[in-house]
Amino acid sequence: MDASYKYLQKSKMKNRLLQKIVTIVFLTGMCSLCQAQQKVTFAENIAPIIFKNCAPCHHEGTAAPFSLLNYEDVAKRARMIEKVTHSRFMPPWKADPTYRSFANDKILSQGEIDLIKQWVSQEMPREI
Ligand code: HEC
Repeated sequence: MDASYKYLQKSKMKNRLLQKIVTIVFLTGMCSLCQAQQKVTFAENIAPIIFKNCAPCHHEGTAAPFSLLNYEDVAKRARMIEKVTHSRFMPPWKADPTYRSFANDKILSQGEIDLIKQWVSQEMPREI
């Protein structure tokens, strides 16, 4: 075996290793992408957020201007809901002293806000 052959074998191995690394990095990237693209549905993800954080005010006979009690109520206003949750205008907190008791349990987490955004970007699927 001469030296140049050995060198060739070595660089081939290096190439294969590099290929493996590139594949792994690529697959990991794809995976986080598919997680981000997971289907968000009203039944599974959005209804619990809305019922817990919005429906207590958004139903008939309250100061809130419309109900958020079912899919139609929410889907119809999805883009507005995305906007007001993103800007944290809703649910209201601190803005009005009479809402003080809601201040802690009615604040959306960043994850919840992102879910609403994803749901809207997926054209508001109702269920899986
Ligand atoms: C503490 C009661 C309360 C809670 C909780 C609440 N809202 Fe509201 N919401 C109101 C009231 C009152 C108004 C109308 C007055 C106003 O615009 O400030 C309103 C207005 C809105 C509007 C109309 C905004 C506009 O620009 O006209 C949207 C959209 C909305 N709420 C969505 C939500 C969503 C989504 C949630 C849950 C994440 C939520 N609200 C939680 C009381 C509430």
